Amino acid sequence: MSDTPPAVLCTRRLPLEVEERLSRNYRARLNLEDRLYDEDGMVASSEGCDAILAAGGDCLHARTIDRLPDSVRIIATYSVGYEHIAVDRAKARGIVVTHTPNVLDDATADVAMLCLLGAARRGAEGDKMVREDAWKGWHTGLLVGVHVTGKRLGIYGMGRIGRAVAQRARGFDMEIHYYNRRRLPSDLESGAIYHESPESMLRVSDFLSINAPSSPETRGFLNAQSISLLPEGAVVVNTARGDLIDDDALIDALRSGKVAAAGLDVFANEPAIDARYRELKNTFLLPHIGSASVETRNAMGWCCLDNLDAFFAGNPCPNAL
Ligand code: DGY
Repeated sequence: MSDTPPAVLCTRRLPLEVEERLSRNYRARLNLEDRLYDEDGMVASSEGCDAILAAGGDCLHARTIDRLPDSVRIIATYSVGYEHIAVDRAKARGIVVTHTPNVLDDATADVAMLCLLGAARRGAEGDKMVREDAWKGWHTGLLVGVHVTGKRLGIYGMGRIGRAVAQRARGFDMEIHYYNRRRLPSDLESGAIYHESPESMLRVSDFLSINAPSSPETRGFLNAQSISLLPEGAVVVNTARGDLIDDDALIDALRSGKVAAAGLDVFANEPAIDARYRELKNTFLLPHIGSASVETRNAMGWCCLDNLDAFFAGNPCPNAL
C-alpha cells in the first residue's frame, strides 16, 4: 500500500474490533449513526473513496453502481448474500466485488434449527404465554406440537449452510433429503438422499428448510403449487432469503393447516414484513439474525478486511465474485 492509505466508505456500523482494524489500516469513513444510505446518499458518501465496505440491504443496484465515482475500485460486502449488488454492472465498470462465504454457515444453521424447533414445538406461543402470565398450569393438551425426531427433512439448496443444517438435523435422527442444482459427491452427501427435482423432494418433506440464495431461478420457489406437494402438516423453515417464498401462498397454507407451522428468520421486504405473519399463532419469527453471533460477526468483518488488504496489496481477493 502507498503512504496514504486507501479511503474506505463503511456503510454500516460493524463490530468495534473490525472498525478499529479498518481505521488502523485505511482512511475509514464510518457511518456512526448507522443510517441506511439511499442511492443519492451512497453516491455522495463514496465520493473520494477507493472502496466501499457494504452490507446486506445496501442500495447498490445497477443505477447506483453506474453513478459511483470512478475512484471506487472494490466493494466488499459484509454478507454472504449479494443480491443487493448489481455484480455484473460492477464488473463491467472494473469494480471488484467480494463477499463473506464460509464464515457464517454454522451460525445460520444454528438459527435454522432454532426456527425448526421453535415452529414445530410452538416456541413463540409458549414464550408469550409465560411472559404474559397466561399459563394456568400443566395439562395434556398444552401446546402440543409436531414431533421432530425421525421425520424427513427436505433441504432446498445443499451448499455449505444446507449441509450444516443437515449435520445438525442428523443429531435429531431426521432423514435428510435434498435438492440442489448438482448432486453432491458422496462424502459431502453423508447419506442424504438426492432428488433430481424440487417437486420430488417436496413430496417427502415433513420439514422443509430453505437454504438457497436468492436468484432469478429460486425467487418464489415456495408458492401455492410447490406447497401443494408437501405432506399435510409440514413445517417450513426459511433462513435464506424472504423472496424465495410467496407470502400469500404460505399464509394461506398456515391458515388452512396444510403447513402446520413456519419458522422464518428472513422475509420479503424486511423489516416491513407481511403483517399477517404476526397474527398467526403457528409462526416462529426472528429478525434476520442467522449470522448474529459475536464470533461470526467478527469473522465476517475479518473476511471483508482480508479481501480489501489483498486487493490493495495487488493480490487476488480470496472471496471475489
Ligand atoms: C448474509 O450474510 O447474507 C446474511 O443474510 C446477512 O445479511
